[in-house]
Amino acid sequence: MVAMASNLHPEVSSFLSGGPKKLLIGGQWVDAASGKTFETVNPATGDVLARVAEGDQEDVNRAVAAARKAFDEGPWPGMTPAERSRMIWKIADLIEEHADTFAQLETLDNGKPITAARRDDVGGTIDYVRYYAGWPTKIQGHTVPVSMPDVFGYTLRQPVGVCAQIIPWNYPLMMAAWKLAPALAAGCTMVLKPAEQTPLSALLLGQLILEAGVPAGVVNVVTGFGETAGAALAAHMDVDKIAFTGSVDVGKLIMQAAGKSNLKKISLELGGKSPNIVFADADMDAAREGAAAGIFYNMGQDCTAGSRVFVEQRVYDDVAEYMAAHSKRLKIGSGLDESTDIGPLVSKEQIERVTGYLQLGRQEGARVLSGGERVAEGELARGFFVRPTVFADARNDMRIAQEEIFGPVVSVIPFRDVDDVVRQGNNVVYGLGAGIWTKDIQKAHKMAAALKAGTVWINMYNAVDPAMPFGGFKQSGIGREMGFEAIELYTEVKSVWVNLG
Ligand code: NAI
Ligand code: MG
Repeated sequence: MVAMASNLHPEVSSFLSGGPKKLLIGGQWVDAASGKTFETVNPATGDVLARVAEGDQEDVNRAVAAARKAFDEGPWPGMTPAERSRMIWKIADLIEEHADTFAQLETLDNGKPITAARRDDVGGTIDYVRYYAGWPTKIQGHTVPVSMPDVFGYTLRQPVGVCAQIIPWNYPLMMAAWKLAPALAAGCTMVLKPAEQTPLSALLLGQLILEAGVPAGVVNVVTGFGETAGAALAAHMDVDKIAFTGSVDVGKLIMQAAGKSNLKKISLELGGKSPNIVFADADMDAAREGAAAGIFYNMGQDCTAGSRVFVEQRVYDDVAEYMAAHSKRLKIGSGLDESTDIGPLVSKEQIERVTGYLQLGRQEGARVLSGGERVAEGELARGFFVRPTVFADARNDMRIAQEEIFGPVVSVIPFRDVDDVVRQGNNVVYGLGAGIWTKDIQKAHKMAAALKAGTVWINMYNAVDPAMPFGGFKQSGIGREMGFEAIELYTEVKSVWVNLG
């Protein structure tokens, strides 16, 4: 393996050393049936971090069979809600115990700044898992007042069964937890497929889930590629539910695969092109700061990134220039460096995609106020670093304003009034998030109702909380994660009729 910086946690070094990482199937760590492996790369350097088993159809079949067995037989279905609750809490404790290891693995594999990995990815995951640890004892049915004499009706809320969970690379640990925790709380079993770019933290998580006492086969982890392992899960006849986070194109493929196979239940959390709207009557310091953080956080690789900043005409120049100046102050560097604000993008594919959009924006006539290029000199040229970029004089009908770029690239677009910005803001195929910056509460709440987005933030941006539903309108997805909504995704309602006559 490659030489590592000396400040790595010993547990990280030992996790990365040794042979290829294996698949977790039926409580055992196993090689892929084909014996194949693939490399996962450190995007800050381009160096190989580890080799990982390349699961495909055969491994998916085995993992689904293990999950099916664990769901139908074995100790899992007989476990009480209180026992499940304690087990999920224990998983959170173990993540906390290994928090430094997780944070460094996340930074090495994804590139993100360690400060964010520690606080948000790992800290947020622990809070999230603890929230769902509370749910098993609170999942209940109802009694139903049917209008028939001597008939008693009630509902049971039961686990949906074997779940396939396909996740992306932008928040690898957090995305795994978003899928696993509510499914465990509901009493499901599952096969998790991490993104091929960032498989490491999910494998460590799998290890801790076993350590927490979760029975064999309840959680299986199959690393591999989307077109093989992912597609096999989506088409599998014995998967009852599939949850996916990623691109719209793949979301559509998953829906088709479900339709062509067994009509498995689906939930999709897809991309976005979220409007972050600054009115001239906003607290301007907070608004400008929020507009910048809303796009540059996690290098813009965020489904709710505020990638279209709409600014009321008379403060347009001020906000655009502030954002450009802010972006120039952000420190670009290795994610392992505590002072880094902007790490690399996750992969070669992503830097090519994003730099393509930088070129396109210029061709479309937008004006580059800052950034606009890959970091091509010095140490950082080895990695996938791109300068945070502000496009001024952008129009909502430009492709840079309509298509998800998933990089630190923002289109700043002027607007006249409320009607104009609602029309422009909604004029996009996505509907994930939206931000509104104003001191006028009537305007704020009217806008919140009018914007077609699953989440609206008023005088704040990009907050998530395990108790608050999260998901998209339009092509940003189907279903809501978080809160009780996620419990609904992983349960079926059964109506029971009893003749008392
Ligand atoms: P992707 O949608 O291809 O990958 C996400 C996950 O889906 C990965 O685990 C991948 O292995 C899996 N996958 C890919 N093809 C599949 C298939 N045919 N069947 C089943 N699973 C499959 O996203 P990708 O290629 O990594 O990124 C492309 C763009 O997608 C990004 O530029 C961004 O715009 C968007 N994206 C959105 C995310 C979000 O949070 N909503 C996260 C990641 C990407
Ligand atoms: Mg893809």
